[in-house]
Amino acid sequence: MSGEVLVEARGVVKSFPGVWEHLILDHINFDVRAGEVHALLGENGAGKTVLANILSGFYTLTSGQIYVRGKPVHFKSPFDAIKNGIGMVHQEFTLVPSLTVVENIALMLRKHNPLSYPLKEVRERTLELSERYGLKIEPDRLVEHLSLGEKQRVEILKVLYWEPDVLILDEPTSVLTIDEARELFKILRRMAEEGKGVVFITHRIEEIMAVADRVTVLRLGRKMGTFKVSEVGKDELLRLMIGEMEPVRYERGRSVEWGRVVLEVRDLHVLSDDGREAVKGVSFEIHEGEILGIAGVSGNGQRELAEAITGLRKASRGRIRLMGLDITNKPAGEIAKLGVRHIPEERRRMGVVEPMCLAENMIIREYKEKTFSTAGVIKSKVITEHSKRLVERFKILTPDIWDTEVRILSGGNIQRLILARELWKGPKLLVAFHPTYGLDLKAVTHTHQHFMELRQKGAAILLISEDLEEIFLLSDRIAVMLDGRIVGTLGAREATPEKIGHMMAGVGAS
Ligand SMILES: Nc1ncnc2c1ncn2[C@@H]1O[C@H](COP(=O)(O)OP(=O)(O)OP(=O)(O)O)[C@@H](O)[C@H]1O
Ligand SMILES: [Mg+2]
Repeated sequence: MSGEVLVEARGVVKSFPGVWEHLILDHINFDVRAGEVHALLGENGAGKTVLANILSGFYTLTSGQIYVRGKPVHFKSPFDAIKNGIGMVHQEFTLVPSLTVVENIALMLRKHNPLSYPLKEVRERTLELSERYGLKIEPDRLVEHLSLGEKQRVEILKVLYWEPDVLILDEPTSVLTIDEARELFKILRRMAEEGKGVVFITHRIEEIMAVADRVTVLRLGRKMGTFKVSEVGKDELLRLMIGEMEPVRYERGRSVEWGRVVLEVRDLHVLSDDGREAVKGVSFEIHEGEILGIAGVSGNGQRELAEAITGLRKASRGRIRLMGLDITNKPAGEIAKLGVRHIPEERRRMGVVEPMCLAENMIIREYKEKTFSTAGVIKSKVITEHSKRLVERFKILTPDIWDTEVRILSGGNIQRLILARELWKGPKLLVAFHPTYGLDLKAVTHTHQHFMELRQKGAAILLISEDLEEIFLLSDRIAVMLDGRIVGTLGAREATPEKIGHMMAGVGAS
């Protein structure tokens, strides 16, 4: 029945005593109805993921009550929630790269019941679901060969397999291209039409306007209100989300004279984990004061390229030079010492050491340097000061800097930590993968300003992103990567989204 309340949170409180003084969720009322897409909006650390985790059985609540179709429930595990018709798609993917799409789905099912899911059956049902919702996948492809958009479709299918009544998606669009996001919106609408309730977490107000029926705004654990999207304006949502608007506008600043070549890549070949050639003879250079944007759907060799430059992966052929110095296949630590910084694609796995605290994560590159240690003994006072300054400057929401593992930080705050660590020193070369992934509006603007400052100071930046808007906003030149090659490069002035789009699709390279 359309309009029926499928799941409801009443007076939900969540606290993490001993970690945070304030309530993470402060008496939250929230409900999801059949036939609606209900958006959840709020800054980094507002409590969106925690609320979603409570509704889907990943976290227990401190007080309050959850109701499913009017009946009180007490979830002890995500499977309890699934049995009650609630499923969640998390922001960080949990797929096994060396297995196929269908094998991944079967693996998830067998965790719950090892005997009852023959592969053939799983394959048929996956195809049927994929057809029904328009979630295009190739069932027998290895997950490691999939783009982020495809991986996400697999994650969604994993949850849909249980036929949930309520589907919760945590920032599903932050890794998608514009076209993929549009495709996803259609799918969400289809689910709503079928009578499901959809919870959609995002930072982008335009997306809420495009796809949601209602929106709930959270700010630091408090609910600011629930509105019909047709009855609320963009500006009002923005104000509710971040309070009084400070007019932070992005300034491109004066154009910068390019200086010497900082990074020179010649005929570079790099293999992926499975021995396939992922980068197939790439050449380019980046100058001082230049941002080179690499556009393209992920999975076309971008990751391998970034890892070869930063020393995390061996090049099989070709040369990489930094300020004229050959750094091909030098160890990552040595390359970092020469002033190369890296914002990696997978922040939780590659960007931080989750079981370590913030202060340790901040100096992970420099802890052996004189500034931070003498004769193997770390200077904790200096590190404390250093970390505090960065927490302030990059506005990282953390209970403290020594006593908690960074694992507990919200997605956007982990990203801020990585940015702080990689940007503070003013690198010579920054290799940045999707740098604003999961950041809220204010933090995105601050990050863009940081990039502009670095460029002004003469750093070279390799910006890799599926977010064309960001690529256009920041880049001096835009190169498109497709199937391991750079298929064209355009100056910012001559580049248009159409031209780049064509190149990304493999038509009409310049
Ligand atoms: N296991 C935990 N222990 C302690 N604190 C936690 C834990 N999980 C989350 N938190 C804290 O709860 C707060 C809300 O986090 P949450 O992940 O819900 O934010 P969010 O709104 O999803 O933000 P983002 O946009 O950055 O993803 C954060 O301050 C976070 O550090
Ligand atoms: Mg979150």
